[in-house]
Amino acid sequence: MFITVEGGEGVGKSTNLAFIRQYLQENGHSVVDTREPGGTPLGEQIREILLDHRQNAMAVDTELLLMFAARAQHIAQVIKPALAEGKTVLCDRFTDATYAYQGGGRGVDMERIAALEEWVQGGLRPDLTLLLDLPVDVGLARAGQRSAPDRFEREAQEFFLRVRQAYLEQARREPRRYRVIDAAQPLEAVQGQLRQVLDGVFHA
Ligand code: TMP
Repeated sequence: MFITVEGGEGVGKSTNLAFIRQYLQENGHSVVDTREPGGTPLGEQIREILLDHRQNAMAVDTELLLMFAARAQHIAQVIKPALAEGKTVLCDRFTDATYAYQGGGRGVDMERIAALEEWVQGGLRPDLTLLLDLPVDVGLARAGQRSAPDRFEREAQEFFLRVRQAYLEQARREPRRYRVIDAAQPLEAVQGQLRQVLDGVFHA
């Protein structure tokens, strides 16, 4: 099974990913934990370029293609082999982030993204996508308490409002694959909701 976790800035992805991993392991899954952009040595180098705040002249298409270049490597080297071995892949962000950030945030035509998705992934899509959703101002306040902002974290609030809208729109369009988690709740309640969703998927 291929599970992805998505959300804007400051939604608590790391903490909740650890919780999801533990849930899966307790339920007998052999979990491959990975992330995008990154997940391979080559992909992690591409990630450094993408997040480097000094790369402030990066064209939108360059950003888009680097995301998919890292993804192509990740699919070939990690995701496909793991799925073929019957493992559960738990990925911190995937192509839905491209629709949200490059599509929603940067204004790239969604059909161009869909064409690249088809080219790079063929039929590969996540089986389940958990969207941690939070009002943008709350998320940015939480994220702002961390270290120096990367190239994305330097964007204005309007950018993240478009990112959130794009995520919610995708969730509405694909209700079978998406589960929206209210990340504004206290952590215990967020994890309670996650457990309920996962129980529904794995113990229905
Ligand atoms: P992270 O901070 O969640 O590790 O993600 C790194 C940044 O990359 C985050 O700001 C979202 C962004 N991103 C995109 O813009 N497009 C993508 O396709 C992916 C996977 C991430």
